[in-house]
Amino acid sequence: MEALKALAFSGSLKKDSFNKKALKVAVETAKKYGAEVKEVDLAELNLPIYNQDLENPFPEQVKILRNMAEWADVFIISSPEHNHSISAGLKNAIDWLSRKHDETIKGKGAVILGVSTGNSGTLRGQAHLRQILEALDMFIVPQPEVLITNGAQKFDDKGNLTDEKSIAIIDALVKKTFDQFTKIKQ
Ligand SMILES: Cc1cc2nc3c(=O)[nH]c(=O)nc-3n(C[C@H](O)[C@H](O)[C@H](O)COP(=O)(O)O)c2cc1C
Repeated sequence: MEALKALAFSGSLKKDSFNKKALKVAVETAKKYGAEVKEVDLAELNLPIYNQDLENPFPEQVKILRNMAEWADVFIISSPEHNHSISAGLKNAIDWLSRKHDETIKGKGAVILGVSTGNSGTLRGQAHLRQILEALDMFIVPQPEVLITNGAQKFDDKGNLTDEKSIAIIDALVKKTFDQFTKIKQ
């Protein structure tokens, strides 16, 4: 069987982002389970703010993201929680992808995770992300949820996630998503 293709991106645009660091773990895990992974940095891509007047044709940066999304079977998204929801940067990217979403999103799978510096571990943000992606007909396993709390204490000076429980739950989520998504696709 062909390898699953995964597109990984962080909802945090910040350079020294905890979510970018957690995303690295999910990317390595996806590769371990045989996926081909492409990563895109939304800060580098610098998408314009979504505006329906700019859709015909899509701006060049949007085309790059949409082409990558079309290529992928699965998205891997690590996002912070901003004001009890997802980051504006992530919502903006999804809004661009949601146009003609049968090309970019529909029927694909998603692995979602998040790190916060507080106690919520992005619980509320992830609930919103799940709602948005499911509305666009994405497949997301109900459990496990990767909610990394107190992020400042879970990474070492080199940016490596050191919390064994979080590493194990990322592994379980990626494996379960890949297993179930592969079955759906067969
Ligand atoms: C604009 C803004 C809003 C935030 N809102 C929340 C929030 O609602 N819940 C939460 O747990 N943390 C919140 N935080 C704190 C984030 O958890 C923290 O900044 C974390 O480092 C974000 O992840 P990142 O390092 O990947 O950007 C907020 C931070 C910012 C900058």
